[in-house]
Amino acid sequence: MIARGDVVVPGDKSITHRALMVAALSDGRCVLTSPLAAGDTRTTAAALRALGITVGPLSDRRVSVTGAGMKPFRPPARALSCGNSGTTARLLLGLLAGHGFEVRLTGDRSLSRRPMARVTEPLRSMGAEIAAAAGERLPIVIRGGALRPLAWRSPVASAQVKTCLFFAGLAGGVRVSVTEPVASRDHTERLLRLLGVRVEVEGTTVTVHPAESIPAFDGEIPGDISSAAYMIAAGVLAETGEATIRNVGLNPTRAGFLRALERMGAKVEVVDRWTSLGEPAGTLVVRPARLQPVVVEPEEIPSMVDEVPLLACLASRAEKGWTSVFRGVGELRVKESDRLALVASNLSALGVAAHTEGDTLMVEGSDKPPRGRIVTAGDHRLAMAFSVLRTVPGAEVELDDSRCVQVSYPNFFRDYARVVHPA
Ligand code: S3P
Repeated sequence: MIARGDVVVPGDKSITHRALMVAALSDGRCVLTSPLAAGDTRTTAAALRALGITVGPLSDRRVSVTGAGMKPFRPPARALSCGNSGTTARLLLGLLAGHGFEVRLTGDRSLSRRPMARVTEPLRSMGAEIAAAAGERLPIVIRGGALRPLAWRSPVASAQVKTCLFFAGLAGGVRVSVTEPVASRDHTERLLRLLGVRVEVEGTTVTVHPAESIPAFDGEIPGDISSAAYMIAAGVLAETGEATIRNVGLNPTRAGFLRALERMGAKVEVVDRWTSLGEPAGTLVVRPARLQPVVVEPEEIPSMVDEVPLLACLASRAEKGWTSVFRGVGELRVKESDRLALVASNLSALGVAAHTEGDTLMVEGSDKPPRGRIVTAGDHRLAMAFSVLRTVPGAEVELDDSRCVQVSYPNFFRDYARVVHPA
């Protein structure tokens, strides 16, 4: 395949969820341009509407949200569906903890299997009443109210946990500190600080102070580096040429993929840089590269947590017989699917030597064309990561489900065809 042409990456999923919810807390009409218009962010927009917030149509051009102050919600008429979106469920639980009425949250099969104790435990210690299904999973009924301040040491590095608790503090009018083992993505901190909320950072402890009000704001959502990563990987796996990837969010707490890729021998050039909604962004030029194996350490994982399946696919194309090692990837078991098990089994199905040992994933480089059928378990990131292997000459990679890309990147297949072309 030849890398050629360019593509504009869709809006960042994490930032779109946060901007929609923070806009709901603001004191007026906010207009967000270039948001992500996909399954997960539509779920958040619909949940906010069900809670009484005026949210205009969500398109990839814009969305408007009319904020109603720091406790903006009204009791919904029925249970709120969080679909496939862990971010919607966990962040909304935080906001709802500050409201004195009962709400039931549900999710699809995948989301109903994901752990919620990481947020329900600290929210209960703030004073929220929460009843969860067996194993502390969805469906969950929450009744918030008067909350106490919180200093929480989270056993996992998770921006969803951190943001949930900051949102509870904002809606409840109390101070919240969260300490993580490694700092996770800091989009919430950047947005709140931009809007005048007092945010303090000391090592891996972040404190968000209560705010009387948040001003209405407009802004452009930068592109999603997690979506850009597939386009970058396709360019790297091509045989010749170069492709341009526009509008890529370059927040260092998200850019671990680029750092790992560079260690693997790929050169990604940043040809333009700017800042948008407090986030660095840029345009990237990517060229094919001969890949070397990589060793990734646990403290790097939070900055690339959603890109590990893709990096594992790239590692399968590194120099033959050499093993790449990803340490500390246990969190992958509790994403939209058990990504750790499925990355290893799907790579094996393609003829690649891959296995797990505890929380470590090992992948051996191969020069044989990948051929086989991929079990996605409806997980968008697995579908996209394995699709990219089609760039390899002679590849025959079939997916059991390609519609699941709708969750985060509805135009994935169109964009892929724009950056790599048959030789
Ligand atoms: C997200 C954080 C990550 C990531 C998810 C989105 C966020 O989850 O996997 O896709 O928007 O905060 P954790 O924070 O649970 O690791």
